[in-house]
Amino acid sequence: MGEFLGWCIVVTYGVAMLNFFLKRINRYYISKLPKEKAVVKDYFSKIMKPIVKYHRYFGLLAALALTIHFLYIYLNYWISTTGVIAAITLVVLVVLGLYGYLIKKGKKGNWLFLHRFVAFLMIFAISLHILKR
Ligand code: HEM
Ligand code: HEM
Repeated sequence: MGEFLGWCIVVTYGVAMLNFFLKRINRYYISKLPKEKAVVKDYFSKIMKPIVKYHRYFGLLAALALTIHFLYIYLNYWISTTGVIAAITLVVLVVLGLYGYLIKKGKKGNWLFLHRFVAFLMIFAISLHILKR
C-alpha cells in the first residue's frame, strides 16, 4: 500500500510535468508543421489542452497523494529521510504554484522561474528517495 501510494505521487507529478514538455514540443515542433499536417496538429492539441488547463489540479492531486503516503507510512512507524526531502521539495513546489496562480494570477515572473526550477529538482529528490528509501 505504501509503495502504491508512492507511485500515485510519481504519476500525478509526471502528468503535471507534461504541462512543460507538451508546450515545448508544441512550440518547437508541432506549430511549425505544414498545413497538410492539420490532423497531427489537431490530435496533439486535443491531448495538450486538458493537460495545460487542469495542470494545477494534477499538482494538487500529487500533494493529496503525498499526504496519504506520508500518513500511512508514518502511522506504521516509519520515517524516511529521503522521503521527507522529497516531501519538502513537493510542498515548496505546490506553494509556489498556488502563489503564482492565486496571487500573481498566472502572470510570468520570478515565481514561475522558481516553480519550474523546483519542478526539475523534484526529479532528483524522487530518484534519491526511490533508490534509497
Ligand atoms: C514527494 C514525496 C514522495 C514521493 C514522490 C514518494 C515516492 C515513493 C515511491 C514511488 C515509493 C515506492 C518505491 C518502490 O516501489 O520501491 C515510496 C516508498 C516509500 N516511501 Fe515515499 N515518497 C514521498 C514521500 C515520502 C515521505 C514524506 C516519507 C516519510 C514518511 C516516505 C517514506 C517512504 C517509505 C518508508 C517507503 C517504503 C514503503 C514500503 O516499502 O512499503 N515517502 N515512496
Ligand atoms: C507536482 C506539482 C507541480 C509540478 C511538477 C508543476 C510544474 C510546472 C512547470 C514545469 C511549469 C512551467 C511550464 C512552462 O514552462 O511552460 C508550471 C507552470 C505553472 N504552474 Fe505548476 N506545477 C505543479 C503544481 C502546480 C500547482 C499546485 C499550481 C497551482 C495551484 C500550479 C500552477 C502553475 C501555473 C499558474 C503555471 C504557469 C502557467 C502554466 O504554465 O499553466 N502548478 N508548473
